[in-house]
Amino acid sequence: MSNQDLAVILLAAGKGTRLKSSLAKVLHRAGGRTLVEQIVRACEPLKARETVVVVGHQAEQVASVVEPLGATTVLQQPQNGTGHAMQVVKRTLGRAKFALVLPGDAPLVRTEALKALIAAHRNGLAAATILSAVVADPSGYGRIVRKSETAVSAIVEESQLTDEQRDINEINSAIYCFTLEKLWPALAEVKPNNKHRELYLTDAIAVMSSKGETVLAQVAADPREVLGCNTRADLAEVDRIFREWKRNALMDAGVTIQLPETVLIDPDVTAGEDTFIEAGVQLLGKTKLGVRSSVRTGSVLLDSVVGDDVKIEPHCVVVESRLEDGVTIGPFARLRAGTHVKSGGRIGNFVETKMAVIGEGAKVPHLTYLGDAKVGAKTNIGAGTITCNYDGFEKHPTTIGKGVFIGSDSVLVAPVRIGDHAYVAAGSTITENVPEDSLGIGRGRQVNKPGWASRRRRELATAQQPRKSSRRSNKKSRRETKKRR
Ligand code: UD1
Ligand code: CA
Repeated sequence: MSNQDLAVILLAAGKGTRLKSSLAKVLHRAGGRTLVEQIVRACEPLKARETVVVVGHQAEQVASVVEPLGATTVLQQPQNGTGHAMQVVKRTLGRAKFALVLPGDAPLVRTEALKALIAAHRNGLAAATILSAVVADPSGYGRIVRKSETAVSAIVEESQLTDEQRDINEINSAIYCFTLEKLWPALAEVKPNNKHRELYLTDAIAVMSSKGETVLAQVAADPREVLGCNTRADLAEVDRIFREWKRNALMDAGVTIQLPETVLIDPDVTAGEDTFIEAGVQLLGKTKLGVRSSVRTGSVLLDSVVGDDVKIEPHCVVVESRLEDGVTIGPFARLRAGTHVKSGGRIGNFVETKMAVIGEGAKVPHLTYLGDAKVGAKTNIGAGTITCNYDGFEKHPTTIGKGVFIGSDSVLVAPVRIGDHAYVAAGSTITENVPEDSLGIGRGRQVNKPGWASRRRRELATAQQPRKSSRRSNKKSRRETKKRR
């Protein structure tokens, strides 16, 4: 379907008073993106001739979100209603014949529903076609008043409903398709007849209908798609639905998700077949998971690339990192930006890494910090090893070769190099390079003093003698008091 005769117009100038926020409504997030971005993206596949976003509150920030997506912006200042917003657009619009108009706060609408709306409008040769929805609780929405099975006579806003109209459960989504040569003259006749003294785009519907123009309403197949975000509760509900859709898409692609409602996944995340996600996991940003990998409970992954057959044990935090095939990490591992664990590598509990490359099959099993470090293949890093990469002014690198054994509780003061197949003795403070195949020891020599312990105990016993006897006499007198009672 070509839509070269169609302009997409997004009304996103409002403040969103009901959110009680310093942030403009359309910049709030749901489903991992700002509301306005969700809508621009849903419209993208329509390939309209232009996408115009009406901005007002925090215009610059809104523009910085939509312009990279190929939209242009028009400033509406002040914001005198949705009808006024359309008048502002009129001056800048190219030669489109039709307009698809959407509010900036109904982000769940999907491309398929928009395509169906445009098709109904074209096929019905209508002046206006409204995307409507039949809902259980219509409160807060404008209602669709029909004059026949197919034709609409008006949209009545909540504040202007008569008692009978209040029970109408078909609502206005504020998503419409207009034939512009029919809309402009109708809009010119609309008056600000409401307590906010605003020009309502919805009032143009009654004008068109009374002139005998065709006004249709197309009922959305899934009423959740038209949910607007006026309150924080609306935002939470819309976010919940986006997350559910994302999880369902991954499950359809062969991913197992345990207790799905506890798992939060951002829109750009991908995962391969037979990957297993336990309860309480968050997969964020552009995280990618391969096949047959598992992410266990409480783990959070952001912008990370995970290969096949990787095991992420409970409570790991992984940011901007890369885990190759067959890697195991955690439980309780923190992989900071720039960590790269090569295939078969293992990171155990209470390990923190940052800008660190861990070689193939290398092990960092417990209680370690590796920063600005390179670890060669098959190297073993003992418990409690720390790279001192920061001297208070600058960061320095630590390079550890392959097949190295670093004894427990070693401190590697960077810059420093440990050659291939070298050993570092447990408890060392290494300040100089260790050549390959050598043993590096950097610690005080141990001295044993025979008989020292019993001598010490005797000394202590003599020193405490007088106090002990006074305690005994106290006990004795307490016992006597008891007996007397
Ligand atoms: C609107 C509809 C209502 C519909 C509901 C669906 C009107 C008058 N009412 O009500 O029938 O059921 O959406 O969610 O349209 N905006 C501007 N400039 C303005 C005013 C608003 O750009 O001067 C934008 C807002 O930023 C928002 C959109 O238009 O994105 C809709 O405005 P909003 O105040 O949310 O309208 P509702 O009261 O929800
Ligand atoms: Ca709204």
